[in-house]
Amino acid sequence: MGVADDIITPCFRTPHDIAQAEIHAICALKNQSWPHSIESQLAWWEKNTAGDDVFVTLVREREIIAFLRLRNRIVVVSGIRKEALCVTEVCVDKAHRGRGLGSRLMGAAVDHIANTGSGVAYLLCRDAQEPFYAACGWRRVDRPLQIESASGRGRRVLADDERCMTFDPQNRLGGQIILFGDVF
Ligand SMILES: CC(C)(COP(=O)(O)OP(=O)(O)OC[C@H]1O[C@@H](n2cnc3c(N)ncnc32)[C@H](O)[C@@H]1OP(=O)(O)O)[C@@H](O)C(=O)NCCC(=O)NCCS
Repeated sequence: MGVADDIITPCFRTPHDIAQAEIHAICALKNQSWPHSIESQLAWWEKNTAGDDVFVTLVREREIIAFLRLRNRIVVVSGIRKEALCVTEVCVDKAHRGRGLGSRLMGAAVDHIANTGSGVAYLLCRDAQEPFYAACGWRRVDRPLQIESASGRGRRVLADDERCMTFDPQNRLGGQIILFGDVF
């Protein structure tokens, strides 16, 4: 039986209800794509997790095979502060890539985003990943965009190979955008 035939369940967790074993499994999954060490992944998780983050996973036979995080952020659009969700750390288990699971994971995230107050989200990625997010229905921001460090290290623009993608069906992020944060 292929993955497409398996029962794969989207699962939503917060820092308050996630089990330590799930954090370990997610860190091991992330380590496939961003290899450091499990200890370093766990330390990063501890340092960079906020109390209002939401963790989205796909689970197959109790195994976490895909993960992303939703962060609550403020953006400034043409001088006006707005709430938005920021999607980070999108990853699918290497053994299960190329079978539509990344799209399903992003679909689960969009369901959540569409039901939050702001209803909009953004993410930063490399140019090589733009086709994946475009296939998921996200659109590239081609307007002026700046990123202000949350820890006061200053402001920067996107690098040549960086992209900002949005889920913004009602065009609430139309205009000049300033993003805030250090982790995307
Ligand atoms: C990017 C990633 C999440 C995609 O997951 P996946 O399960 O392989 O993706 P899917 O099978 O759902 O693919 C969905 C669509 O995106 C396309 N796609 C997937 N990965 C792609 C890539 N790297 N480049 C271009 N297109 C890609 C697929 O062809 C498919 O398009 P289609 O519907 O027209 O056939 C996965 O490859 C991954 O975990 N990569 C490593 C971590 C990473 O780079 N994350 C992104 C951080 S910004």
